[in-house]
Amino acid sequence: MDDYILQLEGVTKIYGKARAVDSSSLQIKRGEVFTLLGPSGCGKTTTLRMVAGLERLDEGRVLYKGIPVADPANRIFVPPHKRNMGMVFQSYAIWPHMTVMENVGYPLRLRGVGGSQLRDQVAKVLELVGMSAMIDRPAPMLSGGQQQRVAICRAIIYEPELLLLDEPFSNLDAKLRNQMRVEVKLLQRRLGITVLFVTHDQIEALTLSDRIAVMSEGHIEQVGSPSEMYDNPATPFVRDFLGQTVVLKGKLSAGSDGRVGFAMTDGASRGTVLYSKKHTLKEVTQDADAFLSIRPEDIQVLPMAEGGLAENSLPGKIEALLFVGDRYEARVLLPDGASILLHLSRTGGWKEDQPVQLALPPERTHVWPA
Ligand SMILES: Nc1ncnc2c1ncn2[C@@H]1O[C@H](COP(=O)(O)OP(=O)(O)O)[C@@H](O)[C@H]1O
Ligand SMILES: [Mg+2]
Repeated sequence: MDDYILQLEGVTKIYGKARAVDSSSLQIKRGEVFTLLGPSGCGKTTTLRMVAGLERLDEGRVLYKGIPVADPANRIFVPPHKRNMGMVFQSYAIWPHMTVMENVGYPLRLRGVGGSQLRDQVAKVLELVGMSAMIDRPAPMLSGGQQQRVAICRAIIYEPELLLLDEPFSNLDAKLRNQMRVEVKLLQRRLGITVLFVTHDQIEALTLSDRIAVMSEGHIEQVGSPSEMYDNPATPFVRDFLGQTVVLKGKLSAGSDGRVGFAMTDGASRGTVLYSKKHTLKEVTQDADAFLSIRPEDIQVLPMAEGGLAENSLPGKIEALLFVGDRYEARVLLPDGASILLHLSRTGGWKEDQPVQLALPPERTHVWPA
């Protein structure tokens, strides 16, 4: 049996008439980095605040280490300071009138630790993020990244088993954000703590997480590992939110060998049949409207052959070609009139206006109901 540190069961938060979080259920395993990912306003912060005890639930319950900490039906509510979870929020700045020592040591002082023991523990946690030399520095003399590290140290100093991070890097510039991402991952591995992370940034989620839950309008669309979510999205929302997708319009047609047939209905390739090994169809009905999707990096670009198109291919044309050193970036015109950006090998001898064929491997394409 999996060891769940945190369980959400049908958790719901209603503001006025809107269900900001709508019957969300999640199970977070001990020691993993679990990310709530979704667009602004989908309910990520509200979910995290309910886990922390900063927000009451309207329905459902939250279990921490197997014990209910929020269960309105049974009038159970454990206040935040008794849940012992570490928290870092986007707006949760460190205190400007205090030094690094005072900021990081604050939660321990509240718990009655003082003197040299306090200083030793602060020094130890600062060392984890390479900041022990700055222990006596006043907060205003720190860079943005250093302040964020101090906030993280303050959240982990009393060794919480669960760390809640709500968009903690969104105020940092891109370079620092990358660096902090790696740092949080290393820190989490070193301490063996569980992290519940919130972000709207898909790259951040894909790089940092063991598992991701994609949220939309208060509900959870899909939960899985980054590669599962990317390669096998369960819904069009997840597909389009995680990375780039090329979507073609067509109709279902006769398949073969366990592959679904998809006939283009748009543009110059009308009637061309493509086969796909993956689909999200309840039933395969001949001539039903459908979409076919593929990640741009899974499209293989080849020069147009003398004998015409190979199987599972579409014709295209290179509209614009940019040399970027290790490869070309090409804008390629599809038969339905859309243009997509593709990466081409540096050695292909590509030219603008060149007709090409685009091979769509059946194991990389996915057919969806319209
Ligand atoms: N205190 C509040 N009062 C009323 N509505 C709120 C409150 N907090 C959040 N909301 C609404 O709940 C929804 C989810 O918000 P939030 O959890 O902050 O989303 P996210 O963190 O994913 O951007 C939004 O529509 C937001 O406007
Ligand atoms: Mg938020």
